[in-house]
Amino acid sequence: MEKREQLYEGKAKKVYCTDDPDLLIVSYKDDATALNGKKRGSILGKGAINNRITNAMMQLLEKNGIPTHYVRELNDRETLVKKVDIIPLEVIVRNISAGHFASRYGVKEGIVFDDPTIEISYKNDELDDPLLNASHAIALKLATREELDTIKEMALRTNAILKEFFRSINVELVDFKLEFGKTSDGRIVLADEISPDTCRFWDATTHEKLDKDRFRRDMGGIEDAYQEMMKRVDSVL
Ligand code: TMP
Repeated sequence: MEKREQLYEGKAKKVYCTDDPDLLIVSYKDDATALNGKKRGSILGKGAINNRITNAMMQLLEKNGIPTHYVRELNDRETLVKKVDIIPLEVIVRNISAGHFASRYGVKEGIVFDDPTIEISYKNDELDDPLLNASHAIALKLATREELDTIKEMALRTNAILKEFFRSINVELVDFKLEFGKTSDGRIVLADEISPDTCRFWDATTHEKLDKDRFRRDMGGIEDAYQEMMKRVDSVL
């Protein structure tokens, strides 16, 4: 596989073309941002950890019947993925109140929901990723009703699989963000990443935060938290 020109650089990843028009290379950076890019920093080792954790999760999901963009890991921080058109939605699933759910609705963090919640935002940095509902997404032609139904069903199945996996390494999957893409033949697949950048992970015993909230909230211990998550994921692979 030959790496060709850079197609795109995002806040946490770069994407390169390859000699195959249907395949791209994702390269994970150590750069960290929060508050829609207003807070910037770097987390040593993050790129390699997020690459490894994401790939482990994508393989677990594939094994359990969720189609993803994952093809194969190339090295420490680079992975080969299927080229998809990203649907500009951020799909957030929550099992426990935290973050914007807690602040938006004026509740404390840590309330365990009877059933997961699901919400969608319009992935648009200039607008600060505004929350929207299905009818808004359809009106904006971001996705069709059928695509939204598929996305919702895939997100909830993903939650069930991931929740059980993280439970097995004594981690509560509090909430997470997914992105979906469409392949050249029109199939919807899970894309982007599943990592401590995009999930909230709490130690199931101590409730210690093992994710990017340590960076967002200036709590310190960020590198250790990412290392600890990688160690636990590795311990069951
Ligand atoms: P929130 O509580 O800030 O809405 O975040 C919910 C989950 O989604 C949390 O695990 C972090 C993740 N997330 C992202 O990965 N990217 C984003 O831009 C946002 C807003 C949240």
